[in-house]
Amino acid sequence: MQNKTVRDYIRTIPDFPHKGILFRDVTTLFADARGMRLCVDQLVAPFTGEKIDVVAGLEARGFILGGAVAHQLGSGFVPIRKKGKLPAATHEQEYALEYGTATVEVHRDALQPGARVLMVDDLLATGGTAKAGIALLERLGAEIIGCAFVVDLPDLGGRAVLEDMGMPIHTLCDFD
Ligand code: PRP
Ligand code: ADE
Repeated sequence: MQNKTVRDYIRTIPDFPHKGILFRDVTTLFADARGMRLCVDQLVAPFTGEKIDVVAGLEARGFILGGAVAHQLGSGFVPIRKKGKLPAATHEQEYALEYGTATVEVHRDALQPGARVLMVDDLLATGGTAKAGIALLERLGAEIIGCAFVVDLPDLGGRAVLEDMGMPIHTLCDFD
């Protein structure tokens, strides 16, 4: 296909990780050189010219995107990780997923209070993960400039949740 969009590179795997879930798999987007460049360029676009001190990436696919976005913006990168992975003192936040619950953590000294932060992940579903990430960044005193995602699943309501919190949200494509 000529002129594929970011959405065209994403494949759907039915019944992963549980029956009834349509898993939107971005590995096919990341594996393609043009797809990877296209999605990073589009994630960064609204924030070029903004002073962003730190890009915060949500584990796991937010690390892949966040590193590339940070490089392009000339920012640092801070990982928000699943519980038990970070070696130094952390803050932690529990959250609900589309399927199950989990806890994420950030290093207590990951950034300076007042740092201007862009949070990045591959996909926004219920918004539980992003809300937990925002809570951690706010606990560190970050000024969150926005949140950027490749995929929005609008039927799951995450975008509305984050927008109701006053968070600027940037997404590249939707799936039902
Ligand atoms: C996926 C996705 C987001 C989150 C979105 O990660 O990468 O981080 O779900 O869902 P939510 O908006 O309902 O919180 P997942 O939790 O599957 O973990 P993984 O990155 O370790 O695969
Ligand atoms: N995270 C939560 N829901 C998801 C979905 N449908 N596809 C991929 N990642 C997800």
